[in-house]
Amino acid sequence: MRRPILTANWKMNMNSAELTAFTGRFIPLVANADEVDIVIASPFTLLDRLAQQIAGTTIQSAGQNVNPEESGAFTGEIAPGMLADMGCAYAIVGHSERRTLYGETDEWVARKAAALLDHRIRPIVCVGETLEQRDAGRALEIIETQIRESLARIPRDQAEQIVIAYEPVWAIGTGRTATPEIAQQAHEQIRKRLSAQFGEAGNRIRIQYGGSVKPETVYDLMSQPDIDGALVGGASLDPEAFARIVHFQSQRTQ
Ligand code: 13P
Repeated sequence: MRRPILTANWKMNMNSAELTAFTGRFIPLVANADEVDIVIASPFTLLDRLAQQIAGTTIQSAGQNVNPEESGAFTGEIAPGMLADMGCAYAIVGHSERRTLYGETDEWVARKAAALLDHRIRPIVCVGETLEQRDAGRALEIIETQIRESLARIPRDQAEQIVIAYEPVWAIGTGRTATPEIAQQAHEQIRKRLSAQFGEAGNRIRIQYGGSVKPETVYDLMSQPDIDGALVGGASLDPEAFARIVHFQSQRTQ
């Protein structure tokens, strides 16, 4: 079966003192969580320190973005090899904040994902529709196009390395989680698309849900057949809350 993956996306938050306070609380709380993958995507500035603090645990680190080029005159950018050098096992690409605020296209996301695989870093490829697109009845079509185009450069034999994050834009940072049913419907559509593109491997690719995931909502989301993990923003800044999300099995409320 697909191994659950719980990823913290810290976005542009946390400094070195806050990181140390976080890991000091979080690491003991998840010490026995050995049936899930735990990933922390910190700002670039903390990746080195994060790597030192999670050494010897099962927690893995991730970049929040990457530039597909190997090196060169790209002021302010970070290359895949630099993330590898920091010990990153994963990197997020195509987050909706980058798509909407910084104009990232599916083609650009596709280049990043392929460049990461060249460095043995697993891309977490984000897709998701806006509220306008959902209200216009276009959600599934939008997601399908994003999947097809953003994964256009992924070789079939490496497809299992990737992780998809379905993050409906209207649920990010709004406190408005998609219902488990709405999320499952999108995940099922994504799964079909992955199978069409990659054959049998499509069944083994993990699909995370993201958008206002909280300890109180994670169990029902994770109970859906095609939801294999969570990509967590706000709640992941709190070590207790993120640890409860990691222990999603014990968060059942009824
Ligand atoms: P929130 O959990 O804060 O809604 O953020 C979701 C997200 O964008 C994770 O990548």
